[in-house]
Amino acid sequence: MHHLACIHCGAKYPPDEVIYSCRACGHPLEVRYPLDRLGIERAEWAKRPLSVWRYREILPVHIQPVTLREGGTPLYHLDALGKEMGLPHLYAKHEGMNPSGSFKDRGMTVGVSMALQLGKRSVACASTGNTSASLAMYAAKAGIPSVVLLPSGKVALGKVAQALIHGARAITIRGNFDRALELVQELCDKHGLYLLNSMNPYRLEGQKTIGFEILDQLGYVPDRIVLPVGNAGNISAIHKGLRELRELGFIDRLPMMTGIQAEGSAPVVRAVQENLPEVIPEAHPETVATAIRIGAPVNAEKALRAIRETGGTAISVSDAEILSMQRALASREGIGVEPASAASVAGVKKLVAAGVIGRDERVVCVVTGHLLKDPETVVKQCEPPQEIEPDLPSLLSALRL
Ligand code: F0G
Repeated sequence: MHHLACIHCGAKYPPDEVIYSCRACGHPLEVRYPLDRLGIERAEWAKRPLSVWRYREILPVHIQPVTLREGGTPLYHLDALGKEMGLPHLYAKHEGMNPSGSFKDRGMTVGVSMALQLGKRSVACASTGNTSASLAMYAAKAGIPSVVLLPSGKVALGKVAQALIHGARAITIRGNFDRALELVQELCDKHGLYLLNSMNPYRLEGQKTIGFEILDQLGYVPDRIVLPVGNAGNISAIHKGLRELRELGFIDRLPMMTGIQAEGSAPVVRAVQENLPEVIPEAHPETVATAIRIGAPVNAEKALRAIRETGGTAISVSDAEILSMQRALASREGIGVEPASAASVAGVKKLVAAGVIGRDERVVCVVTGHLLKDPETVVKQCEPPQEIEPDLPSLLSALRL
């Protein structure tokens, strides 16, 4: 049986305790398994479909999970962009291909299942959009109510639409994501809703399977995994999962964990580049990539460890670089992602140009959310379709044929 442990002071908590940070020191918790006693066979995993639940022995859920078939997302080789950057081994793991269109579904299939396992009957989160869409969807599947808190005017249209149609009680606040997160924590503490933001250590367990799938799809450990960083949960989750595989003896080294943030919202990058012991929150984060418009990442401590322990790095990219890479992925690779997701590939481009990423490195970018999440940002960048009279001459003339 697993337990919870503080990553800072090592305090232990039983698996059925509803707790989101260490009671002794306030630092983040993680789930620990008796890995040497689980008797996991890698060959057994290979026989199961590629999905979050392929790896169920190192997930905390013991009931029938609430699932919509998450995970098993494609890993694409980026032929055109890799060639242009001089990187023959550049890949994108398209997490936009999950049921709600983002990687959050991996966290929510585990997180909402845990809510039921722990006897909780309502769930809540703060969100820049994707977490709320995913929570609403999995709460609908589980038949329990959900509450989502969103920063007013700063959530992409597709994500709001999802939260609404899947039946969440959606509230927008006149404040940013960081404030919404403080508020929802208070709500959950005082009123017993189950908190499914990424300080919930069980949710991150689902997300660690991104790393497992990458290894299974490539057949080897890549040199580097690159992710957009907002609340810093995903980069921490993948690192944690890969550490477990190393402990199990399935791999002997870890990829360099590399985080990309938007210039106007880059507290983790600053901490890495200035070698600060901890992240200094950014009071007014701003970026077109609203998914990662976060100034006070709650998983910063875990993320800094992930980056530092693996010899990785962090870098910021401008909004213009993000949007240009969104267009390049769409028009040259056929991969449609939202702006935050394009940040990872834009970051790789910058790191190659700076000589940080070597030409022979095998690099996997996690592209986290689907293009249709944020149609407004797409339409703003493109020429509208040309309208013509409904006859062939007009069509031929428009096509200059
Ligand atoms: N990419 C997308 C598309 C996201 O929605 C998020 C986070 C991230 C990257 C960053 O991941 O927070 O684990 O570092 N979205 C959260 C939300 C905050 O509310 O949907 P992270």
